Amino acid sequence: MHISVIGTGYVGLVTGACFAEFGVNVTCMDTDADRIAKLEKGDVPFYEPGLSELVMKGMREKHLTFTTDVGNAIEQALVIFIAVGTPSRADGSADLSYVEQVGRGIGQHMKGYKVIATKSTVPVGTGERLREVIKAHQGEDCRFDIVSNPEFLREGSAIEDFLRPNRVIIGADSDQAVAIMRDLYRPLYLIETPVVVTNIPTAEIIKYASNAFLATKISFINEVSNLCEHVGADVQVVSKGMGLDHRIGSKFLHAGPGFGGSCFPKDLAALIRTGQEAGLSMTIPSSAAQVNENQRERMIEKIRSAVGNLKGKTFGILGLSFKPNTDDLRESPAIAIAKRLLEEGCSLKVCDPVALAPALKLLPGATPCQDAYDVAIGADALVLLTEWNQFRNLDLERIKTSLKSPLFIDLRNVYEPSRMAKAGFRYVSVGRQEIRPS
Ligand code: UDX
Repeated sequence: MHISVIGTGYVGLVTGACFAEFGVNVTCMDTDADRIAKLEKGDVPFYEPGLSELVMKGMREKHLTFTTDVGNAIEQALVIFIAVGTPSRADGSADLSYVEQVGRGIGQHMKGYKVIATKSTVPVGTGERLREVIKAHQGEDCRFDIVSNPEFLREGSAIEDFLRPNRVIIGADSDQAVAIMRDLYRPLYLIETPVVVTNIPTAEIIKYASNAFLATKISFINEVSNLCEHVGADVQVVSKGMGLDHRIGSKFLHAGPGFGGSCFPKDLAALIRTGQEAGLSMTIPSSAAQVNENQRERMIEKIRSAVGNLKGKTFGILGLSFKPNTDDLRESPAIAIAKRLLEEGCSLKVCDPVALAPALKLLPGATPCQDAYDVAIGADALVLLTEWNQFRNLDLERIKTSLKSPLFIDLRNVYEPSRMAKAGFRYVSVGRQEIRPS
């Protein structure tokens, strides 16, 4: 089978490279000629473990090609995946202009039956809107089906998530389209991946509801973590105790500075907006978003109370990306907190395994450092903001002697408090009691 993926951003490129790995012939199309030229050399424009190798393999085995020519991408393919951006507008709603632009292109170039599948997270009703746009721009009157096939990829483990998903969602209103989609995902039947076949709006909602629920879980545990600090409880153990209940589950109960990234904040905002349009207040997603905002500010107050006065202090910052194993800085709590510290008159020494260069553009005045040890030299405190593996097993003695005072503020709860006390640190974390050197 031949498919095309329109948009070579995060979702599009992972989708294209992974379907090529399944042995499908894939054409990835993007209007950005520079990007396509780089991809043809195997140069992936963002950091995702294993993706560059998979792209190279797909090209070598002649399953993966790139083009800037939308006509070429559409004519060859039976299934066309739309994986272009759906950025947030100021009112929180998703901007569908890129999706509609692709719809116009598909209409103009299609010469036979096509399945058009949305991969990007698109608000309920987009499938129908896309159908109208394609119909209105069709050069030839041929049949096509719309499918909603949302992705659930996590940055940093996107390939694994695609090749071994928890489930595949297919929203469609045609048996032919469902059969074609099932065929495309056939390699996953071997690993018994559940496939949920439903109508288009249901599939669209599944994606938003899943992300909003995960974001709610994080905000919930963050709110509980604040209470833990007041009553002498330990949120790590609370999460563990809760998570052992199979109805709750242990995932996404890790307290910290709040969620970031390209999906959760944007998808919550879009779900809230869709609810408002339907006259529904979407109280829980709204609260999850609000708690997430508050959590960042609480982290600033935590740092302030640990050092007394922020102005004039030097902090060593560990980690800037919104989570480990990505260079993505979108909505990163680390960036938001670092920015606020700069505004408060602090000096920052910063490091990140892959996101340092782009982060510096967002943090004017911050001093770039090679690693955690470089960051610690002369700092009043170390602040761990993103839990990269590189920061999990630091030489604590070396860190302690480099710091001006042995204060470790761990906003990701990476370290064991008793170990930090033994190592001679004053240790501040999230949802646990402050520890003094023993
Ligand atoms: C998310 C969804 O998981 C994925 O299914 C969807 O397709 C895209 O959005 P992603 O944004 O890549 O993926 O990252 P994820 O691992 O889900 O983490 C999101 C944010 O939540 C990060 O900032 C992370 O640090 C934070 N988080 C996650 C917590 O603070 N605590 C947790 O327990 C889990």
